[in-house]
Amino acid sequence: METKLLKINTTDNETKYNEAACLLRDGQVVGMPTETVYGLAGNAYSEIAVKRIFEAKGRPQDNPLIVHISQFDEIYDLVREVPENAKKLAEKFWPGPLTIILPKSDKVPLCVTGGLDTVAVRCPAHPIANMLIKVTGLPLAAPSANLSGKPSPTKAEHVFKDMNGRIPLVIDGGACQEGVESTVITLATPVPKLLRPGNITLKQLKSVLGEVQVDDAVLNPLKDGERVSSPGMKYKHYSPDAQITVVRGEYKDFCRFVNEKKNENTYAMVFNGEGDGLNVPVIHYGISGNYKELSHDLFDSLRYLDEIGAKECFVRCPDETNDDNLAVLNRLLRAAAFKVIEV
Ligand code: TXA
Ligand code: MG
Repeated sequence: METKLLKINTTDNETKYNEAACLLRDGQVVGMPTETVYGLAGNAYSEIAVKRIFEAKGRPQDNPLIVHISQFDEIYDLVREVPENAKKLAEKFWPGPLTIILPKSDKVPLCVTGGLDTVAVRCPAHPIANMLIKVTGLPLAAPSANLSGKPSPTKAEHVFKDMNGRIPLVIDGGACQEGVESTVITLATPVPKLLRPGNITLKQLKSVLGEVQVDDAVLNPLKDGERVSSPGMKYKHYSPDAQITVVRGEYKDFCRFVNEKKNENTYAMVFNGEGDGLNVPVIHYGISGNYKELSHDLFDSLRYLDEIGAKECFVRCPDETNDDNLAVLNRLLRAAAFKVIEV
């Protein structure tokens, strides 16, 4: 299959979306930009489309997909009922990088939810994603558009690299604004629970919901045989080919440690302004106190390591006492398969 790249600008009118919308209505899969990361979109009501998404991504069938809608009231087709908390969250954060999990309606096929009785719903803020859903006239199931296990794509060229030959079309809408996937919260538990941190922070969720629990899997590896709330947490994730190690400690100790450890093709990922005193090439991934900045380039930096053929990379650990850094920490820990060193 040949994969076409189609540039769409936010100022383009509906006709520009016709080709993608036709493919989607026909059960095909299309790469779509969102404000978080690129998604692999397909008709959420079509078992064939959903099967194609799993195949293109090489994703385990028990890992459920997020269903994307273009405006709040479309949620009523997807879930059994809309509790007050869901309305409050949507009012505050939709459209935007927040995914809400609720008991699913009968219309949502079990293949979308990995056999679960709940469905994840998100209303993306990206004008191109939003327009694509509107023009297609269907809710779109979409996981991140990377090959399973690889860092999520934040640019159309990342999607093209992973999906070339696997899907018919990738919409190029430029670089994603957020850089990490949406915050995932379940309202299907007695107390709302954060399953995946993102740039809608824990603080922001608490400001609307009061009590919010944080799932153990957010910052910890699964124990053998442990049941997961979010199947996506089970798998090694976001990993470039290079071995990533997260390094806790002061910068001067980081430098000493990395310089001693240095092998061929060792890299260091450090905060902006750092680099002096290191004998290895460095990649900067943002300002240390700014979680939005850190998340924006995180996946891009991880993918860059593959491009340059890095074998190992030591990464400065963001401030773990600040909950705003949860999203970056969660992705880094998974990219490192929880390899963390204290210096
Ligand atoms: O920002 C995003 O959320 C992006 C863009 C494309 O919207 N999508 C995305 O999808 O990150 P994906 O499939 O890569 O991640 C979805 C996560 C997985 O960890 C999955 O296990 C979890 O959400 N999830 C989906 N449905 C669930 C459910 N019913 N119960 C628990 N976890 C669920
Ligand atoms: Mg993903």
